[in-house]
Amino acid sequence: MNATAQGARTVEAFRLRGRRVREADRAVGCAYRAGRRTLALRTVLFPVTEFAHALPMVLILLVGGAAYLDGKVGLGVVVTGSLYMRRLVDPLDRAPTWVEQVQRSSASLARVKGVGLVAGAPATDVRQPADDRIGVRGVRYAYPSGAHDVLRDANLTGCPGERLALVGTSGAGKSTLGKLLSGVDVPSSGSVLAGGVPVAELAAADELGNRIVLITQEHHVFMGTLRDNLTAATPDADDDALRTALALVEADWAGALPDGLDILLGTGGVHLDAAQAQQLTWPGWS
Ligand SMILES: Nc1ncnc2c1ncn2[C@@H]1O[C@H](COP(=O)(O)OP(=O)(O)OP(=O)(O)O)[C@@H](O)[C@H]1O
Ligand SMILES: [Mg+2]
Repeated sequence: MNATAQGARTVEAFRLRGRRVREADRAVGCAYRAGRRTLALRTVLFPVTEFAHALPMVLILLVGGAAYLDGKVGLGVVVTGSLYMRRLVDPLDRAPTWVEQVQRSSASLARVKGVGLVAGAPATDVRQPADDRIGVRGVRYAYPSGAHDVLRDANLTGCPGERLALVGTSGAGKSTLGKLLSGVDVPSSGSVLAGGVPVAELAAADELGNRIVLITQEHHVFMGTLRDNLTAATPDADDDALRTALALVEADWAGALPDGLDILLGTGGVHLDAAQAQQLTWPGWS
């Protein structure tokens, strides 16, 4: 639904409104039914666990109370017994929370370990690209979780100075091709080359960043200053280099910001009032 709202213009353009509404209704219905089902389970589970925790204490108090009234045990014994029982029940009460934490941690650990598996060993002997051409030769690619090929027999040649626009319907595989070109992923078969050398080889040797840069649809702003955000890519860049980079993407309005490159971005940043925002002019803003 979020994607539909964000891509509302595409949805309208492709007359997908009815389909997206039906899809959203189905997803909401599914979430509603799942919510009701888990609520029903919780209304049974919670009273049962509460009862199971209270039962031993009730038994101790009943049996201990009867024994005390008969004069078989002292009051201290009954109180001590009930306190021990409380100490015993408390950890049992917390055990499900620990199990949940262990499950979450295992999932996170699996992700971290997965990153290590994907990265592969850095290449030691890397060939130097002959020129700045990029080539896609008979590439086939399927996501590990996907059932079908996203790209099949894809071919492309890009020469220096050329500007290529890849156009296609949503889901056609444009971003996927971008990921392959930037060495983020490797094709299932075929090859993606920069100057005749496979980009995956260059990426493994940290050589690719100087030749191919992927700018994704999603943008991330890290908490910190504008300078911190820019130097995340090139730590040793000086202020002149950062200003040149900003000018290149027509963001030289950043120079007019209060504090310039030291302005804080993200939560806790400076909120521009309307007058300040108006002073900043950028063609992309309207
Ligand atoms: N991480 C992923 N795992 C599994 N399938 C994926 C993944 N990312 C994309 N896909 C699938 O691969 C296909 C191509 O997706 P891709 O993002 O490359 O399309 P696109 O042409 O860039 O679309 P858009 O114009 O919406 O950006 C789609 O069917 C999509 O559902
Ligand atoms: Mg895309």
